[in-house]
Amino acid sequence: AMRIGILTGGGDCPGLNAAIRGITRSALDQYGSTVVGFHDGWRGLLTDSRREMSGGQRLDRILPRGGTILGTARVHPERLRAGLGDIRATLERNRIDALIPIGGEGTLKAARWLSDEGVPVVGVPKTIDNDIGGTDYTFGFDTAVSIATDAMDRLHTTAESHRRVMLVEVMGRHTGWIALRAGIATGAHIITIPEDPFDIDEICGLIRARFERGDRHVIGVVAEGSVPREGSGMALRDGGVDEYGHEIFTGAAAQMAPLIERAAGVEVRTTVLGYIQRGGTPSSYDRVLASRLGAHAARAVHEGRFGTMAAVRGTRMELTPLAEAVRELKTVPLELYREARIFFG
Ligand code: F6P
Repeated sequence: AMRIGILTGGGDCPGLNAAIRGITRSALDQYGSTVVGFHDGWRGLLTDSRREMSGGQRLDRILPRGGTILGTARVHPERLRAGLGDIRATLERNRIDALIPIGGEGTLKAARWLSDEGVPVVGVPKTIDNDIGGTDYTFGFDTAVSIATDAMDRLHTTAESHRRVMLVEVMGRHTGWIALRAGIATGAHIITIPEDPFDIDEICGLIRARFERGDRHVIGVVAEGSVPREGSGMALRDGGVDEYGHEIFTGAAAQMAPLIERAAGVEVRTTVLGYIQRGGTPSSYDRVLASRLGAHAARAVHEGRFGTMAAVRGTRMELTPLAEAVRELKTVPLELYREARIFFG
C-alpha cells in the first residue's frame, strides 16, 4: 500500500472529477492505498493545503460534476522552481510515495521537471483543447466540441433568418482541434485554425460568392488563436508570448468582422463562446475516458512506472514517457485540415 498525492492544475475542464474518482477508487479498492488530494493545483503542494480522499459517500456523485472538487490554479513555472524545497517538505510531511498531477501542458511540464528532480510522478492529461502529445485524446475535448456544436446549430438559424455572417470564436489558443471538429459537425462554411494562417481576402471572396449565388447565410468558426497570413492585408495583433514561449494572438473573430462587412457588404455578428465550453457536466465519452486514465495512472504508480503519463491510443490505455508527451503541442495536421475542406467552403 502507498500514500499517493493527487492534484488538478491549469484551466478547469469537464471530466476532472471523474479522473479524481478513477484514481481514488483504484488506489483504495484495488491496492488498499491512501490518497491525499492537494488543493488548487501546485499551490497546495507549496503551502501544504490538502485533504485525505476516502471512498464511499465523498466520491459519490462527483462523476458527472464539472470543474474540480480539489480546486485548480495556474502557477508560474518560476514560482514552482523557487518552491522546490517547500514541495519536498510537503511530500515528506505527508509521507507521499508518489504524485499524480492531472493537467495540461503547464502541469505536465512541471510534472516532468519534478520527475527529473527525483520525485516519483505519473501524469494524467486533460485539456479541452486536445493539444497534448503522446495521447490520441484528452478528456474535456469531446464535451467542449458538443457545446460548440450545439451553439453553432443555433447560430445557423439566426444567421439564415437575417441573411448574416456569423463568426463563432471557440477556444484553442494554439491549436484548432475544437474549431475543426465543431466546424465539420455543424457544416460551417469557414473554419480557421492557428496551424494554417487565414487569408482575409479569400474569406471575403468566399462570403461574397455564397451570397451572390443566393445563399442566405455564412457560419464561420474561428479558433481563438487563428492568425492572418503574412502580407494578406490584415495585421497580426501582437499579444506577446505566454509563460511557455508560445506567441499569443486573440480576438481574431472581432478583428475580422469589420473587414468582412466592408469588403463583402454584408452584416457580420460575432459570438465568443469562451468559458461556456469548459463548464458543466462532462459527456459520457469524457467521463469514461477520464475514469480509465485515472485508474490507469493509479495502476502505473503501484507498478513503479514513474516519469510517465497515462494515455489512450485507439481504445487502449498506455503509458507515454512524460518527456515525450511534453516535447511539443499536438497540432492539427495540415492534411487533416485540407481533407476537411470538402465539408466547408
Ligand atoms: O485550456 C486551455 C484554454 O482553454 C485555452 O484555449 C484558453 O485560451 C485558455 O484555456 C484560457 O484559460 P484561462 O483564462 O483560465 O487561463
